[in-house]
Amino acid sequence: MCGIVGFIGKSPEKVLLDGLKRLEYRGYDSAGIALKNGDDIELFKAKGEIRNLEKIVPDKTSAEIGVGHTRWATHGKPDEINAHPHVSSDKKWAIVHNGIIENYLAIKAKLNAFGYEFYSETDTETVAKLLEYYQKKGYDEITSLNKTVNALKGSYALGIINKNSDCLYFAKNKSPLFLAKSGDEIMLASDIICFKGFAKEYYPLVDGIFGFASKEKIVFYDNLGETEIKPLPLDLGEYDNLNTYKHFMIKEIYDTKTAIKNIIEYYGVKENCDRLADYDLSEITKVKFVGCGTAYHACLLGANMLFEKTGIDATSYVASEFRYGNLSLDNKTMVVLVSQSGETADTLAAFERAKESGAFTVGIVNVEYSTLSKKVDVSFPIKAGVEIAVASTKAFSSQLCVLNIFAGIVARKLFKSVDPLADVRALYEKFDYGNVNDFKLLADVLRYNDKLFMIGRGDDYCVAQEACLKIKETSYINSNTYYAGELKHGFLALIDEQSYVVVFATNKEIFGKTVCNAEEAKARGGKIILFTCFDLDASDADNFYYIIKTKELGNSLQAVLNIIPWQIIAYYISVNKGINPDKPRNLAKSVTVE
Ligand code: F6R
Repeated sequence: MCGIVGFIGKSPEKVLLDGLKRLEYRGYDSAGIALKNGDDIELFKAKGEIRNLEKIVPDKTSAEIGVGHTRWATHGKPDEINAHPHVSSDKKWAIVHNGIIENYLAIKAKLNAFGYEFYSETDTETVAKLLEYYQKKGYDEITSLNKTVNALKGSYALGIINKNSDCLYFAKNKSPLFLAKSGDEIMLASDIICFKGFAKEYYPLVDGIFGFASKEKIVFYDNLGETEIKPLPLDLGEYDNLNTYKHFMIKEIYDTKTAIKNIIEYYGVKENCDRLADYDLSEITKVKFVGCGTAYHACLLGANMLFEKTGIDATSYVASEFRYGNLSLDNKTMVVLVSQSGETADTLAAFERAKESGAFTVGIVNVEYSTLSKKVDVSFPIKAGVEIAVASTKAFSSQLCVLNIFAGIVARKLFKSVDPLADVRALYEKFDYGNVNDFKLLADVLRYNDKLFMIGRGDDYCVAQEACLKIKETSYINSNTYYAGELKHGFLALIDEQSYVVVFATNKEIFGKTVCNAEEAKARGGKIILFTCFDLDASDADNFYYIIKTKELGNSLQAVLNIIPWQIIAYYISVNKGINPDKPRNLAKSVTVE
């Protein structure tokens, strides 16, 4: 989604463009920067990719301060007019904004009445004009900012410059924003990855904070006046090194084994594994797992794991449905929120609903400095490292591992003598990436297809859903998942000679039943691809158009061994079709709007 960079120091044009490039992975459709050059603010905006912006920004300027933005359109189409930065009518203020100003129409109407005119369709422009409105009433810059943010409803991370000041102004509410300092240079950003190579620590801004930074000092305010924020160490690892890989998606799939090792090491430390020690869970009667997209698929499997290990009633919800759905929530409910980014607006809204009802909240989160991570009662980091590709891969597998550990920790609290790490250790012992040549061959077959069905039962169905999502988002193939037993209740009508049906059958107890459902599809002309962890004798194998094998694990983390081949297949279909798997069309990495 949208990205913010601000900078005080030498060559801001270069630093801002470089920062925006680092934020590209989050998804955007236009970009822009504003530079304060002498007493002027110069604006550069371009539709589409950052290289379009690069073409119009001068190689060298004498500016020493600026703000930049990547925009993922919400209010108004993606064009140069709606691209940020936005400016006030007197061109004194230039601002970049992430989030949504919910009361922007009311502010606009008020400002219209005072004679202000608007050139864009954005909510952001009202903020620039509001700053001007207060400054024209005689307030200084920081008081104008204070008054402006007090008038805003909704979410915002703001980066602001003013042509009469050498300061970078900022404000944050429900949208991430960070600040870093190196010597007398300052950087503001919506993601700490912009600080890599610039600073060794950063300031995590919290909701309600606003302030300014100059070469000399950084001043933070909250609603009580000046306040302090302690810097945190910046530790991002080698996330941005592609090594020999062509794309982050494939690199991140191959990061999975290291991620599992990190999880074992981290939760192998007693205090990390004892996170629930201070909480009494004996009254908890139900557990609700909540997430979006891939994280929701992890929830489906996590709920099964918890039920299997504890017998506690566990169900899963898509976050956008959880927020408004008819649910029974109370202080005997535990709500487990799963999110890679920890910034997904629907998941954060679901958290607020859970909190209001008095439920005990748990986060299974990758980005440890994220909003969700900080807000939940207890957060379990998944230790996957930075995930850049839009399609979530290593984070999904890591979520499953940590959900399994979490279920083990709850079980240990209730029944003692359970080793929460046993399943993950067994997974690590057996883990491999499978026969990639087989996967590539299948990817070649599937690239031309647009009638792809995936069927399964139980955990196999949940993994099939995730496999299907990976193929949809990175290859744009119209693939759908069904419960194997449901095929004959309607969906069979879709099957014809052009159809490929992947049958997920990695559970011995129901293997025969699931394969029988595939036979029904085969009888209607469908080409059946078996996905299994069992050996078949030659005559049985002949029944299938293609077979993809994985290893048999014997615990619920079989799901990790099952998803890896499909992540790899999705990757190769995408590449075969000439799509950039790291940045599929229309999608954003972190969906910070509802
Ligand atoms: C799919 C994908 C999305 C995310 C979803 C939730 O590959 O990445 O479906 O899983 O937008 O995002 P997080 O996990 O950041 O809350």
